[in-house]
Amino acid sequence: MEGSPSTAGPRPLGLSYAVGASQLLGVAVLAVVGAWMGHFRGGLAWESPQLQFNVHPLCMILGMVFLQGDALLVYRVFRTESKRATKVLHGLLHGLALLVALVGLVAVFQYHKKNGFPDLYSLHSWCGILAVAFYVLQWLMGLGAFLFPGAPFSLRSRYKPQHAFFGATLFLLSIATALLGILELLIFKTYSAFAPEGLLGNALGLLLVGFGGLLGYILTREEWRRPLQGEEMALSMDFKKLPEEEEGGGGSPVDPR
Ligand code: HEM
Repeated sequence: MEGSPSTAGPRPLGLSYAVGASQLLGVAVLAVVGAWMGHFRGGLAWESPQLQFNVHPLCMILGMVFLQGDALLVYRVFRTESKRATKVLHGLLHGLALLVALVGLVAVFQYHKKNGFPDLYSLHSWCGILAVAFYVLQWLMGLGAFLFPGAPFSLRSRYKPQHAFFGATLFLLSIATALLGILELLIFKTYSAFAPEGLLGNALGLLLVGFGGLLGYILTREEWRRPLQGEEMALSMDFKKLPEEEEGGGGSPVDPR
């Protein structure tokens, strides 16, 4: 996802359509998981030993998929706004995603405790714990490197490609974890009977794959990257000299934001 950013100009039409389609898919994902928990699973109730579980899929998909995905899109959508404001919005959306996901995790752990079920036995739960733990780490490191005023530009420049790579990996892991969770929930019931609930769960899985795939497409199109603004361009060119001077290497232009 790194590379030379596109030149400044109006937002490409294809990007607007792709982002619009991703939001429709995202809302469809939330509607389907809401309908599933509401219609087939009896709705949400935090105090109920049974219904508390239903908070888990809803919050995990809202936080770890929808909000995390939208946080990744921020740099494609806000192309000409100030870099700092865009970074703050990116960090805030990830923070909100984490908070919502933590509510979903508390719900499932309390549900297991109230019902005497063992914790962390499934592949879904292992992937889920890894995804959330690394998501917290990634958020803290992003905050320190890109929003902490004292962080040196050289650190930002070196860490930025890692941050982008791990951000994309965590998003993919979150979608894979959600798919495993859907399967796990369905398999407890009469999945093989082509019951409506099973078909709804399958449709939710396909929508999640569509949402993830479309976001991946948007994020990897070089011409849809956020263009450098005047001041950032100057900073980038100034910074380009550093590796050459410090290390004697011929580094390519880096955006140290
Ligand atoms: C990225 C999103 C998700 C994450 C990070 C996640 C994480 C977790 C974790 C850590 C547990 C273990 C709780 C414990 O051991 O007490 C768990 C349990 C569970 N989750 Fe999820 N979850 C996610 C999404 C979903 C979804 C979308 C569903 C279903 C539609 C789901 C269904 C389940 C079920 C049935 C359990 C209980 C069985 C088990 O422990 O594996 N999860 N989840």
